[in-house]
Amino acid sequence: MIPKETISSIFEAARIDEVVGEFVALKKRGASLIGLCPFHNEKTPSFNVSPAKGIYKCFGCGKAGNSVNFIMDHEQLSYPEALRWLAKKYNIAIEEEEQTPEQLTANNERESLYVVCSFAQKNFSENLWDSDEGKSVGLGYFHQRGFTDQTIQKFQLGYSFDQWRGFSDAAIKAGHKLDYLVRAGLTISKENNEPAEPGTRDNQPRFFDRFSARVIFPVHNVSGRIIAFGGRTLKTDKKIAKYINSPETDIYHKSKVLYGLYFAKKKIAEEDNCYLVEGYTDVISMHQAGIENVVASSGTALTVDQIRLIQRYTKNITILFDGDSAGIKASFRGIDLVLTEGMNVRVLLFPDGEDPDSFSKKVSGAELKTFIKEKTQDFIAFKAQLLYNESSHDPIKKAGLIKEIVESISLIPEPIYRSVYIKECSRIMDVDEQALLSELNKLRRKKQPDAQRQEEKENQVPEELLHFAEGEKAVYKIDESSAEHQEKDIIRILINFGKEKLKIEAENEAGEKTEEEYSVCEYIIYEIQKDNIEIENPVYLKIFQEFIQKQEDVPDANYFIQHPDPEISTTVVNILSSPYSLANWEKHSIGIQLESMNLKQSAAHAMYALKIRKIEMMIHDNQKRMKESGNWEEQLILLEEQHSLIKAKKIFSALLGRIVLK
Ligand code: CTP
Ligand code: MN
Repeated sequence: MIPKETISSIFEAARIDEVVGEFVALKKRGASLIGLCPFHNEKTPSFNVSPAKGIYKCFGCGKAGNSVNFIMDHEQLSYPEALRWLAKKYNIAIEEEEQTPEQLTANNERESLYVVCSFAQKNFSENLWDSDEGKSVGLGYFHQRGFTDQTIQKFQLGYSFDQWRGFSDAAIKAGHKLDYLVRAGLTISKENNEPAEPGTRDNQPRFFDRFSARVIFPVHNVSGRIIAFGGRTLKTDKKIAKYINSPETDIYHKSKVLYGLYFAKKKIAEEDNCYLVEGYTDVISMHQAGIENVVASSGTALTVDQIRLIQRYTKNITILFDGDSAGIKASFRGIDLVLTEGMNVRVLLFPDGEDPDSFSKKVSGAELKTFIKEKTQDFIAFKAQLLYNESSHDPIKKAGLIKEIVESISLIPEPIYRSVYIKECSRIMDVDEQALLSELNKLRRKKQPDAQRQEEKENQVPEELLHFAEGEKAVYKIDESSAEHQEKDIIRILINFGKEKLKIEAENEAGEKTEEEYSVCEYIIYEIQKDNIEIENPVYLKIFQEFIQKQEDVPDANYFIQHPDPEISTTVVNILSSPYSLANWEKHSIGIQLESMNLKQSAAHAMYALKIRKIEMMIHDNQKRMKESGNWEEQLILLEEQHSLIKAKKIFSALLGRIVLK
């Protein structure tokens, strides 16, 4: 258990804009910050962060919560895990008993894999810097490739000894379980059906290191934890794989990771552009040359998940190609995927025989920057030019190429960009603009169903926004069979104003009019209990019960926003950010201020609205029973009940009307 005081200090330290800002590029808009939601794919930002309230909410997908909820959701952690994650980030000590190595690994499965990977990184770095073999072989190699000590340290590079299981033995000696070493992909166990390394015989050890006799490139996730490794051999023997990489594990999904993103993300957002290269060494050399907004897909084709990862920080991607890259045309398909995601794609071709790594070693940092600036081309124009050069004299080929280029253009979601590109390509390829356009329209029509659905989804106005636009009344119209919205309004008032005092007129025993002071909380609890109203929504009920228990010291919004039950905290954040809030959270506070000036009316209004809805539901229910009943006596009783319900509704409606009219 984490002590309550520690939880409070974690909440205090973990400012929402900072916590979210680590994963999402946020821009200021009014009193709040806005960015692209990390929980669903979107092209226009609807993810709002309110530093003042310490909460976030996405008006696209509805996700909402506090700093801890965000980490829980984003990093897929439990509540205590998320607290520990934040405590670590903000250097807050959590007083728990010393952990034994067994506890260390037993704590939590995924956490154990992180622990093992972090141990491995430290072990590999120690080998590199502190051992003779590491210094002469590993460090020597990095130096010879031109990496400075500072760079080697920044990327936490390492060395794994030329031994069967030097690493695994060291890890086990330090208290790590073989099982986790295997599951983190660091150790290969023969029982695990892994292909045995050549030369393995049954009398060899049962397990051995995956990475031996290699320099090591740790792979970080977006928040900087180590999740995998790449190991490069130092031998030139063509039969040995140049790189060995971690397999897929519970914490490493290759298709969802970009090498270097942790080190690059800040600069990507700042520069509003991301360079994409092929390998580990390209990323590192570019950094050393002063270009830090660079990531690698690590030798595989770019995936949609990787593109979306970049999209959180920028819409612009520049793909860097080796000069001798025979694969440029082969990569066109992959680039089409990037276009489909609505990103602007540029490309850069290095001189013959050079890749970003080798080229950045040949020229100064300033020269590299100038080269990149001058040689970067728009992808569509680049593709059009390349295709044109290949076929300018062959009309049949040319027809095919037009089709191919228009295919790429048709994938771009924004119509304006499409028409700009059509013009540009007509110029480059020397074809009539109209011919390109008609080809484009043909393609778009074919894709229509898909494209249209996507566009509709994007343009959908969130339900809350509709109610906001139509005024509050609409909120009460939604679902005939539930009092969800009225319950929500009561809970909202309790949370915002529970502590505030109301003066309520009453008669004492002698029949004299008196004025007594109650808290809003007392008033609402009294009204609800008096009429035996049941709160149906289970989360609202939980919150309401907390108010009943804590009438003496009424909890405020912060108490619920930071509630350990994530169901409560996220629900409360949602309540507090609707229906007034939406695009502009400042309006929300104005709404609250107005409401607090007339608190008695607001509280009574919400109370009557809830009662009326409950009565309506009873009337509805009663009608159904009358229809179903075949017994006239019963029907009579039900009819009488119906009359008194309708009368009750009239009374409350009149009361409500008076409030509304005032
Ligand atoms: N790669 C791999 N396995 C291989 C070869 C390559 O996983 N057998 C991946 C690595 O992530 C590598 C990237 O593909 O970084 C690009 O490959 P390559 O250009 O061959 O490697 P470089 O990074 O340029 O490495 P070096 O400069 O040391 O040759
Ligand atoms: Mn290389």
